[in-house]
Amino acid sequence: MIGKLIVFEGVEGGGKTTQIKLLRNWLLEKWRSGKLFSKSPDLEVVITREPGGTKVGKTLRELLLNADVSGEQIQERAELLLYAADRAQHIDTLINPSLERGAIVLCDRFIDSTIAYQGYGRGLDLPLIQQLNHIATGGLKSHLTFWLDIDVEIGLTRAKNRGKIDRMEQADIQFHQRVKKGYQELAKNNPLIVRIDANLTIEKVQQQIQEMIVQKFQQWE
Ligand SMILES: Nc1ncnc2c1ncn2[C@@H]1O[C@H](COP(=O)(O)OP(=O)(O)O)[C@@H](O)[C@H]1O
Ligand SMILES: [Mg+2]
Repeated sequence: MIGKLIVFEGVEGGGKTTQIKLLRNWLLEKWRSGKLFSKSPDLEVVITREPGGTKVGKTLRELLLNADVSGEQIQERAELLLYAADRAQHIDTLINPSLERGAIVLCDRFIDSTIAYQGYGRGLDLPLIQQLNHIATGGLKSHLTFWLDIDVEIGLTRAKNRGKIDRMEQADIQFHQRVKKGYQELAKNNPLIVRIDANLTIEKVQQQIQEMIVQKFQQWE
């Protein structure tokens, strides 16, 4: 089987990081017991994220999410371009090489985050963002995207309980509502985006993800 890019999207606190780790363990366990990917001699699962999946990206992530780093307000267009720079570096140095080795790449946020946050959230021009996404990805698309759809207030409460909140998480509730609306619109127009009810328990969310993965891998194998 050739490599697959599986993306996790959604507003803060939806459980992306939690679910990605659980999914990796489950995939490896299934493979070891011969229940999934029986034809593959080995299975590599790579976990990564945007921003910050590479060394350059970690520096960009600090700039983007930690308001104290630069000490000045990042402007909206600059923010958009920094995310694009992170993505271009990520694809060239980590995602594409992993896919070429045949790995399953589980990526925490990708192009839909830019549309949802900078487009719907900040109100930047959507066609411009799409153009920029295309430049940053070189046309690479995810094979499957899980949209962890959660009530915005529940998500933000979870994020706050997790610890110190970052620059994006600090934005007001209306901003996050617009972001959620963005994901709704994206999912309407793209059948590769699978909505997962993320208001449920960690186990129930993971179960929905696993069921979809089983279906998809049957198609892919
Ligand atoms: N389904 C769930 N129910 C309750 N708490 C959850 C659930 N999923 C995740 N959490 C907790 O909520 C917080 C945010 O989850 P996290 O996986 O970091 O979300 P994200 O990466 O989408 O921002 C974490 O402290 C996590 O343990
Ligand atoms: Mg996370």
